[in-house]
Amino acid sequence: MEATSDSNGANKKLSTEPYKGVRDFYPDDMAVQQYIFGMWSRTAESFGFARYDASVLEPAEMYSAKTSEEMVSEQTYTFTDRGDRQVTLRPEMTPTVARLIAAKRKELAFPVRWYSIPNLFRYERAQRGRLREHWQLNCDIFGTDDMAADIEIIALANQVLLNFGADSSMFEIRVNNRAWLNAIFAQEGFDAEQSKAMLALLDRKEKIDNFAEEAERIAGKPFDIDAGYTPDGDLALVIAGLKELGILNVSFSPSTVRGLTYYTGTVFEIFDTDPSNNRAMLGGGRYDNLTELFGGEPIPGIGFGMGDVTMRNFLETHNLLTADITAPTLMILPMDRTLNLEGEKIAAKFRAAGIDVAVDISDRKVGKKMSAASDAFVSFVLVLGEDEISNNRFTIKNLADGAESSGTLEELCDVLA
Ligand code: HAM
Repeated sequence: MEATSDSNGANKKLSTEPYKGVRDFYPDDMAVQQYIFGMWSRTAESFGFARYDASVLEPAEMYSAKTSEEMVSEQTYTFTDRGDRQVTLRPEMTPTVARLIAAKRKELAFPVRWYSIPNLFRYERAQRGRLREHWQLNCDIFGTDDMAADIEIIALANQVLLNFGADSSMFEIRVNNRAWLNAIFAQEGFDAEQSKAMLALLDRKEKIDNFAEEAERIAGKPFDIDAGYTPDGDLALVIAGLKELGILNVSFSPSTVRGLTYYTGTVFEIFDTDPSNNRAMLGGGRYDNLTELFGGEPIPGIGFGMGDVTMRNFLETHNLLTADITAPTLMILPMDRTLNLEGEKIAAKFRAAGIDVAVDISDRKVGKKMSAASDAFVSFVLVLGEDEISNNRFTIKNLADGAESSGTLEELCDVLA
């Protein structure tokens, strides 16, 4: 929407649009976001992860050393504060969690399992799956280099998707290992410059047309990472371990490298198998040296970030966002407004029994209230008239199949519980 002003610039109307690349969350969107966050935290906690958080503001220098060059030079929101400090709105959570871990290294009983759902800011070109503010489930394990941690963290990411109702045909887990890649590069005789350039090229493989040509230019000979190299060591252990846990939609993906510079071992990404969502839903890996930024012996870490934008696209694409997540289980429909307060009293009783309930206190006719409840994907309605109140007998109707149950409020609480 265009802002307008008269010739003096007076009466200028501000746009109601949000800032470019960020979202407003009206209640319908908020309900979806809450549902996603709820599932994220329940799943992380089911694996024994404890929640942490921190401020969105961090000193800019935290991102210069180990994050990707592209992220630091082109994508951060960095400004100078009134005290002349360089401040960055966090573009990712990993340096922050490394800072928290490093600060308490003496007190923590490792291995530590932590999760968080931070909002992150990146100055990106806004497009499907990419915005300037997004939220990310971050799950990380610190203090062990055992591959059981790598297997567990990928199993957790997998479980998040299953808990949303996805099945394994809907997504693919791509696994690789930075140390394995470095060993291949060494075996091919690449020097440090060539290895760095090849890593950067592999990271852009899906985005460019002349990959083979570029690879040959860097290697000084034809080089195809997808041809003939087989996983061994930690990489083979992780893939086999996941299969042993029954996770079969795992593939060894030699060209998955991840853009961030701090990864040292396992790297992985999860992709939607539906081509309309061709961006990674999640990315992660092992970073054994990141806490070095804050001094002391490095504490190994392994974790992932799963984005809310790509998560929602995935759930919508596979019809996993059933609209009833946004509605209460029960809607009480008073026959007229003189019964609204009685409706509120009854709602309080259902609520005490743990049932989500709202009262339709609008002036609509009861038939209209019924269709509104149905449109909002409410599961049950209770029509409330004088008779119900005087007989202390109520009827709830299941809007999906029309089935009715009658009884006292206590009996109906049992039906809905
Ligand atoms: P990342 O690959 O930069 O990794 O981001 C992880 C996920 O966040 C992506 O796969 C995507 O779903 C989502 N995401 C990233 N940028 C955007 C954006 N601009 N708009 C919407 N969604 C986005 C990291 O951030 C690592 N720190 C993850 C990690 C945690 N590694 C170890 N622990």
